[in-house]
Amino acid sequence: MPEPMSPVSFPSTFLWGAATSAYQIEGAVREDGRTPSIWDTFAHTPGKTAGGDHGDVAVDHYHRYRDDVALMAGLGLGAYRFSVSWSRVQPTGRGPAVQRGLDFYRRLVDELLAKGIKPAVTLYHWDLPQELEDAGGWPERDTAYRFAEYAQIVGEALGDRVEQWITLNEPWCSAFLGYGSGVHAPGRTEPVATLRAAHHLNLAHGLGAKALRSVMPARNTVALSLNSSTVRPLTQDAADLAAARKIDDLANGIFHGPILHGAYPESLFTATRQLTDWSYVQDGDLATINQPLDALGLNYYTPALVSAAGPDHTGPRADGHGASEHSPWPAADDVLFHQPPGERTAMGWSIDPTGLYDLIMRYEREVPGLPLYITENGAAYDDKPDAEGRVHDPERIAYLHGHLAEVRRAIADGADVRGYFLWSLLDNFEWAYGYEKRFGAVYVDYTTLERTPKSSAHWYGKAARTGTLPEVDEVF
Ligand code: FCB
Repeated sequence: MPEPMSPVSFPSTFLWGAATSAYQIEGAVREDGRTPSIWDTFAHTPGKTAGGDHGDVAVDHYHRYRDDVALMAGLGLGAYRFSVSWSRVQPTGRGPAVQRGLDFYRRLVDELLAKGIKPAVTLYHWDLPQELEDAGGWPERDTAYRFAEYAQIVGEALGDRVEQWITLNEPWCSAFLGYGSGVHAPGRTEPVATLRAAHHLNLAHGLGAKALRSVMPARNTVALSLNSSTVRPLTQDAADLAAARKIDDLANGIFHGPILHGAYPESLFTATRQLTDWSYVQDGDLATINQPLDALGLNYYTPALVSAAGPDHTGPRADGHGASEHSPWPAADDVLFHQPPGERTAMGWSIDPTGLYDLIMRYEREVPGLPLYITENGAAYDDKPDAEGRVHDPERIAYLHGHLAEVRRAIADGADVRGYFLWSLLDNFEWAYGYEKRFGAVYVDYTTLERTPKSSAHWYGKAARTGTLPEVDEVF
């Protein structure tokens, strides 16, 4: 029997969490044997990040993790999604593990468990060890095998105490922003390398899932987090529908085709034939990639609105994570991206909670019976402390309320959504935007590194403790 729900209350088993990633918060980049990742190199390359910002100190979570866990416990959160820094654990991307690196994550997990917070580990949130990029990076097949080895090391070290595992975070960004538009590390702008990287990330997911399962207790779950796009056509004209279909293949089908269904969409091959023959997809790869999943993680911020480009158009430039001369989308010069109408966050991303509902229901139809988690959702705003040092962020509360209400509507309509992870616990290093964009529910003063929960943290904490969304205008 499904549990009865009032308009704003969630099932009692629903997991209320927050998410972060290693390079964005840890700092301590040269401690305990860690070596540079592609993000260290990229952020220290002039002109790549706003203000030349980098993650050398970030919010110093490496040294302050106990305080950060205490903060979460104080708010009443039930789960915490964080990522492991590959170059802390296996500095050259191959060979034996560094125990001091693993010990940090053992301590963090023990601290979480002691406070009753469920850890969810992401193995790869974009920070490839630099030595592996020097050997060719994700466009090279060997990187997938290196990832499997790393997955096994972390699975062995933490599998006894972490039940929820995520292989990759948003492989679209790793491939299309890292090797296509170049706004993310390693900053390459090579359309064919983008597609090769996507395939090898898929392979890494499959090999990594197998490696995890070979060393972990069977009760543990394996998933991955996709930033699947809700792609909307500007009109219902055939040309615009075709444009939306192409972007849907390049944003979604390229990952969930092989991962969830064991095949790339034929239309993806057709659309990219001018660039590549896909001969790097070797016999057996699709079966390896198509591992059974225990759950799927969806990261959602904003939908995409596309149309066919007119004859004078020189190519799409929109990609959400930074501007570039180079399009992230290979073979899509005939597609135009539009700014959807309505309100936007400080990232310029339009606010559309129904896009999250549509995404959930799409996967519910496409992979019925596969539990879903919203592994990221949130918004950046220009938060500032008031005279008393309090940080009021009513826009973020409205954003969270709107999106959580759509999650609840999807559950009411039969979707099996098991949990939600707010992005992000803390203000942090927002990639190419440096520290300019604040996504945290907790404000960080970047001079003192002092943490101050914003009103949205209190609002979300109450939702987590009660399983019911407070009113948007409740005062905290
Ligand atoms: C997602 C990333 C995350 C953060 C948010 C705003 O694409 O996974 O690290 O940058 O966007």
